[in-house]
Amino acid sequence: MLESINPSGTFAWKKLRAHFAQMEFVQMQDLFAKDKDRANKMNIQWNDFLLDYSKNKVTEETMTLLLELANELKLKEAIQAMYKGHIINATEKRAVLHTALRDCSNSSTVEVDGETVMPDILDTRERIKKFTNRVLNGEYVSYSGKKFTDVINIGIGGSDLGPKMVVHALANYRNELGMHYISNVDDDYLQSVLKKLNPETTLVLIVSKTFTTQETIENAKKVKQWLQVNLGNVDLSNHYVGVSTAIEEAMNFGLKRENIYPMWDFVGGRFSLWSAVGISIALAVGFDNFEELLEGAYAMDSHFKETDFKDNLPVVLALLSVWYNNFYGYETEAVVPYSQLLGKLPAHLQQMIMESNGKNKDRSGNPVNYQTGTLIWGEVGVSAQHAFFQLFHQGTKVIPIDFIGFVNPHFKESTNHDILMSNFFGQSEALLNGKVGEEYESDGGSFLSNFREFCGNKPSNTILIQKLTPKSLGELIALYEHKTFVQGVIWNIFSFDQFGVEYGKILAKNIQNEIKTKIICEHDSSTEFLLRYFVKNRMVE
Ligand code: F6P
Repeated sequence: MLESINPSGTFAWKKLRAHFAQMEFVQMQDLFAKDKDRANKMNIQWNDFLLDYSKNKVTEETMTLLLELANELKLKEAIQAMYKGHIINATEKRAVLHTALRDCSNSSTVEVDGETVMPDILDTRERIKKFTNRVLNGEYVSYSGKKFTDVINIGIGGSDLGPKMVVHALANYRNELGMHYISNVDDDYLQSVLKKLNPETTLVLIVSKTFTTQETIENAKKVKQWLQVNLGNVDLSNHYVGVSTAIEEAMNFGLKRENIYPMWDFVGGRFSLWSAVGISIALAVGFDNFEELLEGAYAMDSHFKETDFKDNLPVVLALLSVWYNNFYGYETEAVVPYSQLLGKLPAHLQQMIMESNGKNKDRSGNPVNYQTGTLIWGEVGVSAQHAFFQLFHQGTKVIPIDFIGFVNPHFKESTNHDILMSNFFGQSEALLNGKVGEEYESDGGSFLSNFREFCGNKPSNTILIQKLTPKSLGELIALYEHKTFVQGVIWNIFSFDQFGVEYGKILAKNIQNEIKTKIICEHDSSTEFLLRYFVKNRMVE
């Protein structure tokens, strides 16, 4: 279990508070003007990654104090505790070992409850490899002996967002297999997917760590019904594959034992794409690419575990975010990838970061007296520039941004990549420097020049990666996973439970019963009013 230390009571926090009083109105433009070498000092280069964090409201002193904070809050010990399999998810009495899923060292001896975890993980990896190869080379076939043409992945939250994001990101590594994700319990959408598919050649993955998530089970039942109605009374067991910790429940649903892949309690849903939860990734891009993704994450794990905090990518990103969240009071952070293929990254990060760190009790169970989890949002650039960037440039709120871009495009002949990246560099430059408004006599002179003024001084990180590959994607995702972990340690919270979302599941079940029976119980007057309106106006009997 991690020690409980209130960050706001540490020496470093107090020093940071005093330092903030000096920094609050400092302009980054002045910091750059004073030190021509600033960018050279404030960057980290690791493998094919470059992080330039010089466009932040920090000095070398700020970074020193933030690192002091990390040390005082025993970050090193926390990292070791996670890797050693200690029960750091104390509220659920679980270890946190998503890192073991991508361990490529062949030497890990990490144990949970006295048992080494790697044999089971490696065995599952091998099973995924065999299965996906057999599907792709047409050895594992449909009930009628045909090669599968399409896959439906049914799952929600971590059983959907991560794999969906990766498959989308690796579009240029895809094979011909059609991949479809069903997460929401929304029949209209489900039907729109099913109507385009041939049931005879559709493989169904039911991915649910608990196998009790209502949305997933209801969707699985609907898809099962669709297969049965269309294909008749035949043995469809080859069409179903399950991923779950609840093997028995999955078998009760009708899955063959050999078609069920395990999940483990020591892996949270939002950190699970590296396990069999990512079977849709291995199917979509082939096992070798899936393995490269794992290798990338493993490389980032080693960097995180072994590198001095001052040169440690996840640690530095986490500390900068703490600086803004807890001292400047900036509540949100934007992630803007300059690759259309990373369009689903913000949604994945929202679950990863907000489900992990959206907590208001500290590790002693006391209400926190400081801000915790940041609000994450974003969209791909350049598109986002034509949408919400106006507010970044001239709004009243300050939103620190992570710009993520790639030095090289996938296709060498891509001529638009330089246009894309010119925007990438131009935006963070404009946000930093701002601009005085030009005066055009013809359209109002100094009056309009006012509106053309940009104050600048808007912070951003630039994460520049050589190329979008399975490996660098693995590195990038693991980077944010570890950033999330570091922040949880600093904020003295439990990052690996999710009681908040679990409560929503109970509420929905109760209300569902009221809608079904049309007996509306006592609620607050708004909820009751809405439920009565809904029951009265719905056309379904
Ligand atoms: O919504 C809460 C949650 O528990 C997430 O943490 C999880 O990723 C998702 O539901 C799906 O859960 P399961 O994989 O058990 O169906």
